Amino acid sequence: MENILFINACVRPGSRTLRLAHHVLEKLNGHVEEVDLTEETLLPLDLSRLEKRDRLLREGNRSDSMFRFARQYASADVIVLAAPFWDLSFPAAVKVYYENIMVLGISFCYTPEGVPEGLCRARRLIYVTTSGGPMPPHNCGFEYVKALNDSFLGIPETVCFYADNLDIVGADPERILKGAMTKIDQSDFLK
Ligand SMILES: Cc1cc2nc3c(=O)[nH]c(=O)nc-3n(C[C@H](O)[C@H](O)[C@H](O)COP(=O)(O)O)c2cc1C
Repeated sequence: MENILFINACVRPGSRTLRLAHHVLEKLNGHVEEVDLTEETLLPLDLSRLEKRDRLLREGNRSDSMFRFARQYASADVIVLAAPFWDLSFPAAVKVYYENIMVLGISFCYTPEGVPEGLCRARRLIYVTTSGGPMPPHNCGFEYVKALNDSFLGIPETVCFYADNLDIVGADPERILKGAMTKIDQSDFLK
């Protein structure tokens, strides 16, 4: 049975992104472990946390609770990340989460030539988002997550499922969401 890590960055009650993400999760077969970023008190790396992290890594101590999210991420089989489209990308909590994931010797390492090499087990990541207006050609949130996972974390396959134009005057959000769910149903990525 696959170990599915579900990262939930959906802030609003009644989140449409969360509905779409649940539709994705229903298609996957495995045990779902959820990290709810609206409940976790993850903090960005300030000087004291950066120094603590450097010290632990120097000492070779990767079992500290500071690294629990990185260990969990690295050992997942599949990753589903749900984040509403905010300010051309995602809520800031997603960036803070990735700051906590990027730990040398847990989620990635460097070759002697200085090239990053992923240490994560997952082969695929499914990114789910919804936007109020049309999805622009550059979905910066998805592109950042895809680049980071591919070039640093060693997760080569990423896909984005989205519903857009949900807040346009006169839009029918239910119809748009159903259309997005049909695309999810038809996707080979989830098979
Ligand atoms: C803080 C904030 C920033 C947003 N930025 C954008 C944006 O840049 N482009 C856009 O099309 N919609 C934007 N929206 C609208 C949301 O993307 C849209 O309502 C989305 O469906 C919200 O997802 P949810 O229903 O899962 O909360 C923004 C909404 C909020 C609250």
